[in-house]
Amino acid sequence: MKSQEIRDRWIKFFENKKHLYVPSASLIPQNPTLLLTNAGMVPFVPYFLGQEKPPSKRAVSIQKCVRVGGKDSDLENIGKTPRHLTFFEMLGNFSFGDYFKEEVIPWSWDLLTNKDYGYGFKPEQLLVSIFEGDDKVSEDKEALDIWHKKVGIPENRILKLGRKDNFWGPPGGISGPCGPCSEIYYDSGDGSEPIEIWNLVFMQYEQFEDGSLKSLPKPNVDTGAGLERIATILQGKQTVFETDLLAPIIKKIKELDIEKSNTKLDLSVKIIADHIRCSAMLIGDGVKPSNLGRGYVLRMLIRRAARYGWLIGLKKPFLSELVSPVKDIFDKAYPQVKESEKQIAEIIETEEKAFAKTLENGLKKFNELVEKYQ
Ligand code: GLY
Repeated sequence: MKSQEIRDRWIKFFENKKHLYVPSASLIPQNPTLLLTNAGMVPFVPYFLGQEKPPSKRAVSIQKCVRVGGKDSDLENIGKTPRHLTFFEMLGNFSFGDYFKEEVIPWSWDLLTNKDYGYGFKPEQLLVSIFEGDDKVSEDKEALDIWHKKVGIPENRILKLGRKDNFWGPPGGISGPCGPCSEIYYDSGDGSEPIEIWNLVFMQYEQFEDGSLKSLPKPNVDTGAGLERIATILQGKQTVFETDLLAPIIKKIKELDIEKSNTKLDLSVKIIADHIRCSAMLIGDGVKPSNLGRGYVLRMLIRRAARYGWLIGLKKPFLSELVSPVKDIFDKAYPQVKESEKQIAEIIETEEKAFAKTLENGLKKFNELVEKYQ
């Protein structure tokens, strides 16, 4: 199933359940405690906390997200694991004090397993988890009962996990809405580790800076599923890099003048593809390279991609050539990339050239020093 079809089915399923479709918010969040939007719920925080009235009590979205820096940073994993990315799209549905576990758990199962309007996962390939409880919050008995009695999952396929895995939020890690969660995993049955595909968060607390929790006036639902992970499975691939969300960038890199037998080739190509996708999306949302905050994240991604290019023989600026496949990938979902394609390519090229100059100067200084001390 193509990624656009996955997006369309997601939105349609929840629109049929009276959810308002809310287009992705910018990667630059309104929330001052966050550097970059890192989850689908970020634009909705004021609704969860009861600070603002939502336009609808139910929402569905596909949110652009970046996880670089801070506790959620996936940077070191990029290219080394089959699934980690700095930029990804989070499919989500939300209840602002409206429905709760009884509704969302069976819905998630229906969407994943239905062949006609859903994704057609085989039930025996799915596993779920619930929060096992700790000294602050008790075991999520309700979720356990709904999965077992209402959905019919055998108890041995319902894992009970602790705070690290099954208690989500707040989004910046310090203060804000949070709650126990229930995750759905895909188990290919080939002995490899099950893949988490969807997280259902039962957002019923507000966490304060001292770590204490207070119940929210009304319980909410915040869910997040990874588009790239679902696409990997439904497209029969082993890694996110082979899906239609990244493969065209990889193809383009391989057409460049790279050292084909370089031992770092596979890792470098994946890192470059990930970083250029993320950089293009950040610039598209108004981030500019700088030495501070999100501008620094962008600068670091461009320079890291250039460096990995250098390692595989790409000694001249090449990154701006990769903006075109990124634009094509997001043609329908984020047409604004096409509108600012030229500007994105220019910013990337300028930054890449500045970096090359820094490297050249550094190398020159280094050589001078070596000569002086010989
Ligand atoms: N807010 C749900 C998640 O990020 O998994």
